[in-house]
Amino acid sequence: MTNDLLARHRAVLPPWMPLYYAEPIELVSGSGRRVTDAQGRTYLDFFGGVLTNMIGYDIPEIREAVERQLATGIVHTSTLYLIRQQVELAEKIAERSGIPDARVFFTNSGTEANEAALLVATNHRRSHQVLAVRNSYHGRSYAAMGVTGNRTWSASGLNPLQVAWLHSGDRVRGLLARLSADERIDAAVEDLREVLATQTSGDVAALIAEPIQGVGGFVHPPDGLFAAWKKVLDEHGILFIADEVQTGWGRTGEHFWGYQAHGVTPDLLTFAKGIGNGFALAGVVGRAEVLQAVPGISFSTFGGNPISTAAGNAVLDYLIAHDLQANAARVGAILADGLRSAVGGLDCVAEVRGKGLMLGVEFVRPGTTDPDPALTNRVFEACRAGGLLTGKGGLYGNVLRMGPPLTLTEEEAREGLAILVDAIRSSAEVAA
Ligand SMILES: Cc1ncc(COP(=O)(O)O)c(C=O)c1O
Repeated sequence: MTNDLLARHRAVLPPWMPLYYAEPIELVSGSGRRVTDAQGRTYLDFFGGVLTNMIGYDIPEIREAVERQLATGIVHTSTLYLIRQQVELAEKIAERSGIPDARVFFTNSGTEANEAALLVATNHRRSHQVLAVRNSYHGRSYAAMGVTGNRTWSASGLNPLQVAWLHSGDRVRGLLARLSADERIDAAVEDLREVLATQTSGDVAALIAEPIQGVGGFVHPPDGLFAAWKKVLDEHGILFIADEVQTGWGRTGEHFWGYQAHGVTPDLLTFAKGIGNGFALAGVVGRAEVLQAVPGISFSTFGGNPISTAAGNAVLDYLIAHDLQANAARVGAILADGLRSAVGGLDCVAEVRGKGLMLGVEFVRPGTTDPDPALTNRVFEACRAGGLLTGKGGLYGNVLRMGPPLTLTEEEAREGLAILVDAIRSSAEVAA
């Protein structure tokens, strides 16, 4: 049956939309942190549909909130009419954003959220020059691809923006790799000054950056880099956009937003993925003065619709009532510590990194920093065979990514950890 579905998938869907696993799976039901495939095999899910099933599967509070909205008969009205759920969610997000005098614009995807952020930033600054970070991913529209610093995910060279690139602060590879955290910050700031002086004509609109690079394999700069960058940006009036599509809502454990690790407040913040727990919900929040910089009508038919914002309100209420940020810190530490002590010392592991419930393991050829995507894939398949779904990423496809629902329990973390360690050790032995 799955083979038949795979053949039908391949016959009608485009090949540039990848499927995971040598034998792709169809997930047909889910509960908590577990999903079941069409063969009846159940998996512990450490990827959550790319960090999107943030609360988990079949959560009564979210299902009931959506069912209540469905029962009104109103699935869609358009933003031409007042939407109570949308206003309520905007109030909550504005308050939580940390951005003073904040306004919120809802979209359907992270791509559109970043597109909206870039729209208002370039209008506000009357400039189409933007700074972006190497190894980033921001989405699949022309502007979002234009600020994406990852060849594999750059599907077009057409770009409405003029972009100059900054170093990511990666510890494993790149020009700054061998430096200490403080030295990397100093070097990245010097690089920013040099890029502004040599690759722009002044009047840059904004810098867009992910606090932890999602698709980029959970590479993150040293804490404090964004504040050091922002000092320079402020000298020129350049706006700072934090792409919190993967890092928001307490996933990093230590903070509610990834940007808070840097002691800086962004002018604009984009969110998506987890806030809808699977319903299409995303948006941008920013200072009123910046977010109102749209000189024409800009409108999203489905953005912030009654169903997705009903889900969003239920997700945010659940997240706060259950203090899932604290859970991410506690349970994430079990995973991170367990991985570091069990496999961190292996020759093929360059780094175990990340924060909270956003953790990656980077695989290299022993004794080098040469990426080993083949080994990564073996580990990835071995996890699946052991009953654990994970993700992959990194510029060279050599990073195993874990982004489980924030409701993950300690027992589930230990269960997944055992599968991970087993998969990494056995795959590394085959390679040796
Ligand atoms: C950091 C980041 N920004 C933007 C996007 C694009 O979001 P979407 O796929 O919802 O358009 C993604 C998607 O993975 C992402 O990880």
